[in-house]
Amino acid sequence: MNNYETSINKHYGKAGLFERITGMLTDAGADLDALTCDDLTAYDELHIGGRGETRNMAKLAGITEGKEVLDVGSGIGGPARTLAGEFGAKVSGLDITEEFCRTASAFTERVGLADKASFHCGSALEMPFEDESFDVVWTQFAAMNIPERSKMYREMFRVLRPGGTLAIHEIMGASDTPLKFPVLWAGDESISFVRPATWVRKELAEVGFTEKFWNDMTDFSIRWFEKKVEVSGDGKVASVSTALSGESNFSERAGNVTQGLRDGAITVIQTIWEKPTR
Ligand SMILES: C[S@@+](CC[C@H](N)C(=O)[O-])C[C@H]1O[C@@H](n2cnc3c(N)ncnc32)[C@H](O)[C@@H]1O
Repeated sequence: MNNYETSINKHYGKAGLFERITGMLTDAGADLDALTCDDLTAYDELHIGGRGETRNMAKLAGITEGKEVLDVGSGIGGPARTLAGEFGAKVSGLDITEEFCRTASAFTERVGLADKASFHCGSALEMPFEDESFDVVWTQFAAMNIPERSKMYREMFRVLRPGGTLAIHEIMGASDTPLKFPVLWAGDESISFVRPATWVRKELAEVGFTEKFWNDMTDFSIRWFEKKVEVSGDGKVASVSTALSGESNFSERAGNVTQGLRDGAITVIQTIWEKPTR
């Protein structure tokens, strides 16, 4: 592992994650021997909008039965299980955080989706997949941690089949206004690589993708965070976040993201692109 990969693993991959979440599930009354994706909803979608936004983007990306999907930065597998369990896709998750890959595989096995969703530990900058292997390349809230973005977009283009779809949901830069740290994806600037939305749009076109849909979700995201931070007043959301991240400062980190959205430093974009057919 290089220094960057070690830092990402340190930020996300606090040891004992599966055990911490199963402990919380047991406390909440879930039956671990008959676990369902619904039991995991509060824990396994690590992006703004949670399960609802995964479902919305799945429809936008045209994900249907049998589509082969690559989820880049798959986290602990919530989106992959949703795409597999609800939309019938065959999903490969790719993530650099070993503890997340272990947790993703363990929960997927538990809910009986292991034949439809599998997880690979590796980097978005050097994907361990053959050219033209997927119908859809999907990513949610991972790119903010990924430094060589052009390289990642070229990898996405390479592994997509001609006519395939690229679906992105992430935070992008909106102005020169500085972002205050810590935020949810980084304790400080050293592992934060937010790129301006204008740059991302231009870069994707230069790599060869064709834009199909571009939606600014900033207002929705501010309202979503306001509700979360409000709810965390009763300890529920904050304790889930603490279990996931091992950090106890959820309100501060979520508050800095919300402020960044309000100040116009960052924006949340959901966007769909296509790899042209030959
Ligand atoms: C905020 S989480 C989002 C997880 C998931 N997409 C979701 O929405 O539930 C960001 C994820 O990106 C992963 N990640 C960061 N840098 C990566 C890289 N270079 N290659 C692959 N995954 C990476 C992290 O390990 C983490 O799981």
